[in-house]
Amino acid sequence: MKRSLNINAGIKIKIQAAFLSAVLIMPMLIMSIMLIALIFSKPSASFASGNDKSGKYLFNYEHCIDCHSINGVGGTLGPSLTHYGNMHKTLAWTATQIANPSSHFKRGTQVTINGKKYVVLMPGFHRVSSLDLYKIASYLESLK
Ligand code: HEC
Repeated sequence: MKRSLNINAGIKIKIQAAFLSAVLIMPMLIMSIMLIALIFSKPSASFASGNDKSGKYLFNYEHCIDCHSINGVGGTLGPSLTHYGNMHKTLAWTATQIANPSSHFKRGTQVTINGKKYVVLMPGFHRVSSLDLYKIASYLESLK
């Protein structure tokens, strides 16, 4: 402080102003820029993920595709689901078919679907959550 007394008053004020802007104004400016950036930035990927799997994704993930084909891709043990939406099944019927197919068809018997015969062997997907069952069902419903 003693030193500053030797410097003329004008310089002292300039130094003080510089000090004030460096210590107080600059951080405030940076903080507000960061805050504005945060508000206007898109939500990060972690917001979008979680249990946000689509019905289409789950259809592959649960290996439905191993037995059912859609647009020529997939197995043939079960009926093709390419035009499943035209069958006019309810969402509840489809969800039940996935979770507990034996409530519709007796295991080991034969069933005719769209003119083709199939041995009833679809496994029940008991551990799939009801949300995911309905996601898969709505996806199948959308196939026309
Ligand atoms: C091991 C083979 C196999 C797997 C895996 C399988 N299915 Fe099936 N699915 C069948 C067969 C065979 C039928 C005929 C009826 C039956 O077996 O219950 C069928 C019937 C269906 C039907 C009724 C079709 C209709 O027109 O009436 C739907 C819908 C269906 N499956 C959806 C699914 C979904 C969704 C999955 C996966 C979560 C799946 N299936 C997994 C073999 C399978």
